[in-house]
Amino acid sequence: MGSLSLKPYNTFGIDVNAYEIIEVKSVEELLFIPHLSKCLFIGGGSNILLTKDVTQKVIINKIEGIETINEDEDYIELEVASGENWHELVLYCIENGYGGIENMSLIPGSVGAAPMQNIGAYGTEIKDVLTYVKAVHLDSLTEKRFQNEECKFGYRESIFKKSLKGKYFITEIGLKLTKRNHKLNTSYGDIENWLSEKDIDKPTIKDVSDAVIAIRRSKLPDPKELGNSGSFFKNPIIHRAHLNMLKMEYPDIKSYPVTDTLVKVPAGWLIETLGWKGRRVGRTGSHRKQALVLVNYGGARGADVHRLAKDIQEDVWAEFQIELEMEVNII
Ligand code: EPU
Repeated sequence: MGSLSLKPYNTFGIDVNAYEIIEVKSVEELLFIPHLSKCLFIGGGSNILLTKDVTQKVIINKIEGIETINEDEDYIELEVASGENWHELVLYCIENGYGGIENMSLIPGSVGAAPMQNIGAYGTEIKDVLTYVKAVHLDSLTEKRFQNEECKFGYRESIFKKSLKGKYFITEIGLKLTKRNHKLNTSYGDIENWLSEKDIDKPTIKDVSDAVIAIRRSKLPDPKELGNSGSFFKNPIIHRAHLNMLKMEYPDIKSYPVTDTLVKVPAGWLIETLGWKGRRVGRTGSHRKQALVLVNYGGARGADVHRLAKDIQEDVWAEFQIELEMEVNII
């Protein structure tokens, strides 16, 4: 059997081979594939780092469809197939006047991957609008519906990344969106600034989406031009006492409250402070406009990016005694 490149299937643009790639367009097609639990599933390929050739069968999710399942004057409930592109869904909602996901404009990846890591941006997370996740159990091939609470969402976390990791394939999600009286979230500094620069004091969902698109384009590299997987690390959560100690040496360290005793620290700040921002190491490096994003300058191997990530982790640990956790799945 010949080998096939996975380069077009991952936003990092890493060139590793697979031996069998199957595109599925429906749940029925999926259920016909033998040994599903041993396959590697790829949606938009925007949260993976491929470090070696893949010996498993690769399944590319192309299951599409957006349907209305419920609607009144205030709300609409959509059922969206997992192979849809996330940003195209956002644009569809904005065009039709459905509010709730505009802050998550331009996030790369598929709809099915969104609940996996509870995607979020600019003060909103998918868990705020998601009603349910439908998924196929890969061993028994039965479909199960998980209500929002059952997904155990946290910051870039869900049950599908923890106790049910590798056990289910998400086929569909439900979203409850507003048709009027939209609850806009414009508190994020960058959004506020963009709106006031444009003299917009009563923003629409389209304005918020436009703001987010402009902010992301200004900071985050377009994977079509420069391979990357968005934030490579999560923003670490540390004890307030730890932060206070670090403040003695780094008075300008930034933090956001999580609970009374815990705070989130921007990983981008930690990485930049240690001088990694914009530094190129061979064919990879930390992006010059957003230190948290690792990039492929062309021809990087997954192992090169992984090595860089580990070096950054070690450096952050040595200087701040903070453990940086990778957000991207290493395969
Ligand atoms: N910062 C730096 N240097 C940098 C980057 C960031 O000092 O090079 C500091 C700045 O203080 C800045 C703060 O970090 O004010 C926050 O930066 P930014 O607004 O760019 O957001 P982030 O915390 O780096 C997170 C998400 C992004 C999401 C943005 C906006 C994580 C891991 N990342 O990044 O999500 O778009 O907030 O909400 O939570 C992703 O998950 O792939 C992703 C891109």
